[in-house]
Amino acid sequence: MTDQKSVVVAIDGPAGAGKSTIAKRLAGRLGFTYIDTGAMYRAVALWGLRQGVDMGDMHRMEQLAAASQIELAPGCIELNGENVTEEIRQPEVSSGASKIAVIPGVRRAMVAQQRAIGERTSVVMEGRDIGTVVFPGAAVKIYLDAQLAERVRRRLSELRAKGQEVPEQDLLAQMKERDHRDSTRADAPLAQAPDAVYLDSTKLTLDEVEEAILKIVRARVANGKEFR
Ligand code: DC
Repeated sequence: MTDQKSVVVAIDGPAGAGKSTIAKRLAGRLGFTYIDTGAMYRAVALWGLRQGVDMGDMHRMEQLAAASQIELAPGCIELNGENVTEEIRQPEVSSGASKIAVIPGVRRAMVAQQRAIGERTSVVMEGRDIGTVVFPGAAVKIYLDAQLAERVRRRLSELRAKGQEVPEQDLLAQMKERDHRDSTRADAPLAQAPDAVYLDSTKLTLDEVEEAILKIVRARVANGKEFR
């Protein structure tokens, strides 16, 4: 056992693999804080879009990322004191977040905030680079994947549940483009950490994925403390 006070469960994977749903449920079961790092990139992208900043403007986007006040409360994401929970899920924000996520200065600002949170409290943190870059020493690392067609299907039904109709072909194209950009960028690309457990959720129910991960967590963590 180490004297480390907080435990990090890192969940990485492509868009629509089920990371948010699973990470939220796991955090509830474990009594940990749920951190959606994608929401942080989305909030910065939203700010840039509102200011009319080009998503490729590295200097301006880095400034916005460094100045952004992002609060992640359960079910509510705030940017500079404003509730932006719904707005950051718009398709142009998804695409913008993926574009600004290639900018090293933006990533530096986000990673610093993520590390600060994970150092003060036990977290289930989901994103693209949590197990590889943000917390390479995380107690548990999961790479959650699913086949593209299934990921598109899940995202479509999420959008429909919110009353948004997006043509399937458009969503497929957007998701492919985002996955490609996220996994081929030079800085902290989406990748499976060598010591991460790979889980393909295509044919699994939420309960099955949750139980599989809980088993891994329980083998490494007890009473919020980590076994080494
Ligand atoms: O998980 P999400 O779809 O909300 O993430 C939005 C974008 O943010 C994603 O396309 C890439 C970027 N992102 C990232 O680069 N690193 C993370 N840890 C989380 C998200």
